[in-house]
Amino acid sequence: MCGIVGYIGDKNCVPIIIEGLKRLEYRGYDSAGIGIINGKECKVIKTKGKVSELEKLVYKEKLESNLGIGHTRWATHGEPSTVNAHPHLNKDKTLFLIHNGIIENYLSLKKGLLKEGYEFLSETDTEVLAHLIDHYLKLKHSLFQAVRYALNEVEGTYGIAVIYKGEPDKIIAARKGSPLVLGIGDNENFVASDVNALIAHTKKVVYLEDGEIAEVYKDKFETKTVADETIIKEIHQVDMKIDELSKGGFAHYMLKEIMDQPESIYNSMRGRLVYDEGVPKLGGLQGFEERIINSRRIILAACGTSWHAALVGEYMIEQFAGKAVEVEYASEMRYRNPIIDKDDTVIFISQSGETADTLAAMKEAKKKGALCIGICNVVGSTIARESDAGVYIHAGPEIGVASTKAFTSQIVVLALITLLLARKRNLSLPEGQDIIKHMKKLTEKVDSILKQNDYIKSIAEKYVNSKNFLYLGRGYNFPVALEGALKLKEISYIHAEGYPAAEMKHGPIALIDDNMPVVFIATKDSVYDKVISNIQEVRARKGRILAIVNEGDDQIETMVDHVIKVPKTHNMLTPILTVVPLQLLAYHIAVMKGLNVDQPRNLAKSVTVE
Ligand code: F6R
Repeated sequence: MCGIVGYIGDKNCVPIIIEGLKRLEYRGYDSAGIGIINGKECKVIKTKGKVSELEKLVYKEKLESNLGIGHTRWATHGEPSTVNAHPHLNKDKTLFLIHNGIIENYLSLKKGLLKEGYEFLSETDTEVLAHLIDHYLKLKHSLFQAVRYALNEVEGTYGIAVIYKGEPDKIIAARKGSPLVLGIGDNENFVASDVNALIAHTKKVVYLEDGEIAEVYKDKFETKTVADETIIKEIHQVDMKIDELSKGGFAHYMLKEIMDQPESIYNSMRGRLVYDEGVPKLGGLQGFEERIINSRRIILAACGTSWHAALVGEYMIEQFAGKAVEVEYASEMRYRNPIIDKDDTVIFISQSGETADTLAAMKEAKKKGALCIGICNVVGSTIARESDAGVYIHAGPEIGVASTKAFTSQIVVLALITLLLARKRNLSLPEGQDIIKHMKKLTEKVDSILKQNDYIKSIAEKYVNSKNFLYLGRGYNFPVALEGALKLKEISYIHAEGYPAAEMKHGPIALIDDNMPVVFIATKDSVYDKVISNIQEVRARKGRILAIVNEGDDQIETMVDHVIKVPKTHNMLTPILTVVPLQLLAYHIAVMKGLNVDQPRNLAKSVTVE
């Protein structure tokens, strides 16, 4: 989704901003722009399409300045176009504004500004804010006050950065519902919507909270609330290395992240397994264990892939910790007036920690007094900071838009939470130790699946021209069927559906003929024989079958077109293994179709608008 980068300091801001925008490309966008102000000139360059296009234009113009802002836009109001791209300007082209989020009352604000004689060039909600700030500047307010007054009139969400020729020694940055961080350097400061954009320059960051506004100079910054109270912000140290943001020699981030999984899975459990006691050590939940155990029920809320991880969590917690669990789409939960109270624990799962729906659902659950726990990947993200307690998955930066390593790490953390709760209830020490033993072997098992990459690629070749796919699984493999189908559709644009295998006969079976590939996830568990019956039903109707089975399974092999074998593990950890071949299958099919796997059309990495 939209990205913000701003720079003020002694260096030329242009390459810094372009590089920062490139580091935000993974979030998904459709146009880009940059605005600079120096003593002589105020200049804006915008373009539809990629940052590389913007880069060409910027270097052709030989732009140079110590103050500038840049933006990648993901269209909400108005089509992707040069005129709708940010920065947006005031009438005399001396004020530049970039904005993430949505100004919900932009139409009524626009009406007032039109009456005052303001003219609008774009269809965006953002341009309204540029003119509104201009309106207050004309009333002789400072830039800081003008922005503050304007924001007080705005309903909706924003992360903004503003620069103005009249006060060229500062950037004004503000946030409500859309992430924004300041990067603190040596005689230079930065503003960004994501730490990835500034990590090459500084590891010192200040996270702005909702309703906060900052005046950023090259050598200092001051912060207030939009209601004009002064606040002192803490400077945090970010623990991230710049090479974690590179492709590391792989053709795509997605492939690197799939291949990263032995390490990311290991990092999710590193230092957290206490074998002798058969329990995990989760510092972020310390002091909250009893409240979670004693809560009436546990609700897992998330969106997309994280929602699929939540489904796995439901199966785990109910089976091993014996607690009632419900899984909610955060986007539904936030508007449903859910029956939640102080006796509930709600666990919010979000890779980015910034998903607008998940954040809003968390605010709602908090209002109702529930204990709110975050399972996030991005350290310092809003959900991580605003939850009562939480566990980081420590998967490392996930840049590919399609989530892969975050999913497996989310399941690792859900397994740890399950173990924590189960051991406090009925799970015996040997059973707890057995789970830990299996967890410790996950990395080598995932590694062995990854070694089949070439084989999986050869299978992908056989299915690349299919127009539809059905993914079927039962028990722990049902969420994997959903996730396999989602991976395929989002990066290859092939229509794919995931179903619980037994549901096939209630409808989807009508679709099956010799053109319909069906992917079965059929590991040896308590429903293995039932899944074999489902395989037979597809076979009888001439469907093409690819099955994910356990090593040593030679029964299914004789019934299907292709098999991919994965090692056996503890039942509840199965999804961590079975999803990996499905990630690779989707990846190879998308690459063979010549598609942009890291930035699929219309998708954004971090969905910070509704
Ligand atoms: C799919 C994908 C999305 C995200 C969803 C939630 O590959 O990445 O479905 O899982 O947008 O995002 P987070 O986990 O950041 O809240």
